[in-house]
Amino acid sequence: MLTVPEEAVAPLLGWYGANKRSLPWRDNPTPYRVWISEIMLQQTRVEAVKPYYRRFMAELPDVESLAAVDDDRLMKLWEGLGYYSRARNLKKAARLVVDEYGGVFPHSRGELLKLPGVGDYTAGAVASIAMNLPEPAVDGNVLRVVSRLTGSREDIAKPQTKQVFSDALRKIYPPGRCGDFTQALMELGATVCLPNGEPMCLVCPWRGLCAACREGSTDEIPVKAAKKARSIEEKTVFLLRCGEKAAFRRRPRAGLLAGMWELPNVEGVLPAAQASAQAAQWGAEPLCAVPAGKAVHVFTHKEWHMQGFRIECGREAEAFAWMTRSEFEAALALPSAFRGFLEFLWRGR
Ligand code: ADE
Repeated sequence: MLTVPEEAVAPLLGWYGANKRSLPWRDNPTPYRVWISEIMLQQTRVEAVKPYYRRFMAELPDVESLAAVDDDRLMKLWEGLGYYSRARNLKKAARLVVDEYGGVFPHSRGELLKLPGVGDYTAGAVASIAMNLPEPAVDGNVLRVVSRLTGSREDIAKPQTKQVFSDALRKIYPPGRCGDFTQALMELGATVCLPNGEPMCLVCPWRGLCAACREGSTDEIPVKAAKKARSIEEKTVFLLRCGEKAAFRRRPRAGLLAGMWELPNVEGVLPAAQASAQAAQWGAEPLCAVPAGKAVHVFTHKEWHMQGFRIECGREAEAFAWMTRSEFEAALALPSAFRGFLEFLWRGR
């Protein structure tokens, strides 16, 4: 069993009050606003999230507007944030809140967990920050600061470590300040108790209290087991142009980037002649294939290593949706993986 010392609470809250960053989701922390911010902040840095968050809130200010938004418009608002299933789950959850709960978020961790895309972390964040309930939200930052504070050498990559930390933190949540406490733990990890041997222990509210600082073991803690290597997939990406238009298609409804738009592509890196042959097979009547950029995109479990070919075509093959640049930019969201090819796609004729 892990114990987090209760004496850690007051100095952390004092420090947070004096040092917290001003962030858009910290004004008016309603359940809707906190939920959207926490989903966006998973896998994405604070600075990158800010403009997306502001745009999203301006267009979809409440759960009713999110429940009713057009799918392609939602993808456009999310374009560039990646992990698009997060956005699809947001809309599903919004519909559930509107249809089943009359538009009011349920006030318990257990009920919040029933919403699509809401796991332990998000349920804890919404319950504590927006509802002032004593529910921890244990992310990577919190795992690091609590590991160091307590000197814990539990492997933070293990799911059960989150549970152990969560149970220990729940016991010291300060009534009336639950939201501040959750955010203070995250904030300490984001701005002071930094990873990779760079913690700023001199300005930490826990100096004197922190086991890792006392033992000089901040570069060994937290302990994190190495992840499995990602698999690598090579791909040929086709930048097919027919006059002013370019070819796009939708991905399959299930799997990676499900249902998103993409540039046509095939497995493996083809030589130019075979790339042309592939375009001919699609019925696009290609002229020659010109190499047009390479890109690597890293997903959680795999990497795409892509070679682009730009091909002028004589025919708008039926397999694809052919669009001008302005039609494309107005309507379609293209996953980041393909975005590096756009400069080659729209260049000249
Ligand atoms: N990272 C995840 N959630 C956050 C929050 N509420 N504030 C700042 N950084 C965060």
